[in-house]
Amino acid sequence: MKVLSDLFSLFIATTLAADVRTVYEFPKPTWLENIDTMRNGSLLVTSIGVAEVHMITPSPHKNATSSLVASFPNANAVLGITELTENVFAVAAGNMTPTNSPITGSFAIWSIDLTCKDSSAAKVHKIADIPKVDMVNGLEALNPHTLLLADSWAGNIVKLDTKTGATEVTLSHPTLLANFSVSALPLGVNGLKVHDGYVYYSNTVQHLLGRVRINPSSARAIGPFTTLATGAANNISVPDDFAVAKDGSVYLCGPLATPDGDTLQHVGLDGKVVTVAQGGVVAGTTAARFGKARGDKGVVYLSTMGGFAADGSRLAGGRVVSVTLDGAGKEL
Ligand SMILES: *[C@@H]1O[C@H](CO)[C@@H](O)[C@H](O)[C@H]1NC(C)=O
Ligand SMILES: *[C@@H]1O[C@H](CO)[C@@H](O)[C@H](O)[C@H]1NC(C)=O
Ligand SMILES: *[C@@H]1O[C@H](CO)[C@@H](O)[C@H](O)[C@H]1NC(C)=O
Ligand SMILES: *[C@@H]1O[C@H](CO)[C@@H](O)[C@H](O)[C@H]1NC(C)=O
Repeated sequence: MKVLSDLFSLFIATTLAADVRTVYEFPKPTWLENIDTMRNGSLLVTSIGVAEVHMITPSPHKNATSSLVASFPNANAVLGITELTENVFAVAAGNMTPTNSPITGSFAIWSIDLTCKDSSAAKVHKIADIPKVDMVNGLEALNPHTLLLADSWAGNIVKLDTKTGATEVTLSHPTLLANFSVSALPLGVNGLKVHDGYVYYSNTVQHLLGRVRINPSSARAIGPFTTLATGAANNISVPDDFAVAKDGSVYLCGPLATPDGDTLQHVGLDGKVVTVAQGGVVAGTTAARFGKARGDKGVVYLSTMGGFAADGSRLAGGRVVSVTLDGAGKEL
C-alpha cells in the first residue's frame, strides 16, 4: 500500500503539468492587472496605465476577439474585479504613479452590469468613492451587497456595504501589512478570495499566502490567521493574485522573475508548492480565475503584464492565457 500511495503522489505531482496557451495578446506596453470569467465563456480583464476593462471572447476555431467594455474618469488604473451578482461585476479604479504606488484615497468602486445581450450595452455606474482606503487592490464579493477590499498600502482588509457606501476595516493582522523599508514593491495584502468560509490572501512584500476563517456577515476573523506557504523555503517569491480550487488549494501568480517568479504555482493546504508553468507566455502573470462556463471549469485563466526584461522594459504586451489543468487541480 505504501508503494501504491507513493506512486499515486508521483502521479498527482506530474499531472499538474498543464496545457498553457495564449488566448489573446494586447500590444506593448499593456499591463493587464486582473481577470474574472463570465458564465457564458467570455473573460473580463482590467488594466493599469489606462483605466479600462476589456472583454475577451475565446473561440475554439477562430482567434479570440476583444472589445472595450468600460473606461473610468479621473483614474489611470483598474485593479481588482469580482462578480457581485450574476453578470454584474464590481471593479476598483484609481490613480497610480508610474512605479505602481497608489495616489492614496483616489479609489472608487464601480459596477459593470453585463446582464445585456451585448457588452456594448453595458451599464456602468459608481458604487462609491473610497477615500478612506489607500489602495484597493484585490476585490472580492462576500455576498450581493458586500465587497471585501484588500488595501495593499494600509495593509488590511476592508468591508464595503454597496448600498450605503460605508467602509469598515474588518481584518487586521501582521501578515497583511505592507513594509515600507522595502522601496521596490512595499505592497502588503494583494490578492483576496473568499472560499468555503475562509478569506485567502497573498502578501507581496512578505512573500506569503495565508487564510483566515471569517464570520460570513461581519467579515471578522473567527479563527487564526494561518500562513499556508511563505518565503524561499516554500518557493514563494513576490505573489500577486490567485485562484482557489474547489479543494481549497491555490493557483498563485508570481509576476516578477528570479528565482521563483514568472510562475503559476500550485500551493496545497499542506504548504507543498509545485510549479505549474513558468516563463514564456506566463511571464508577468498578475491574476488567475477558474472558468465558470460549461466546459471550462478545469481551466485557469491568467492575466499578465507581459513580463519584464533585464533592463526593466516589457517583454511583451499583456496576455490572457488559458491553463487547462490535467489531473489534480481539475475542477470538473
Ligand atoms: C490569428 O492571429 C494570428 C496572429 O495575429 C494571425 O497570424 C492569424 O492569421 C489569425 N487567424 C485568424 C483565423 O484570424
Ligand atoms: C457574454 O455576454 C456578454 C455581455 O452580454 C456578451 O457581450 C458576450 O458576447 C457574451 N459571450 C459569449 C461567448 O456569448
Ligand atoms: C521589512 O523589510 C526589512 C528589509 O527587508 C526587513 O528587515 C524587516 O524584517 C521587514 N519587516 C517586516 C515586519 O516584515
Ligand atoms: C521547492 O522547489 C524545489 C525544487 O523544485 C522542490 O524540491 C521543493 O519540494 C519545493 N518546496 C516546497 C515546500 O514545495
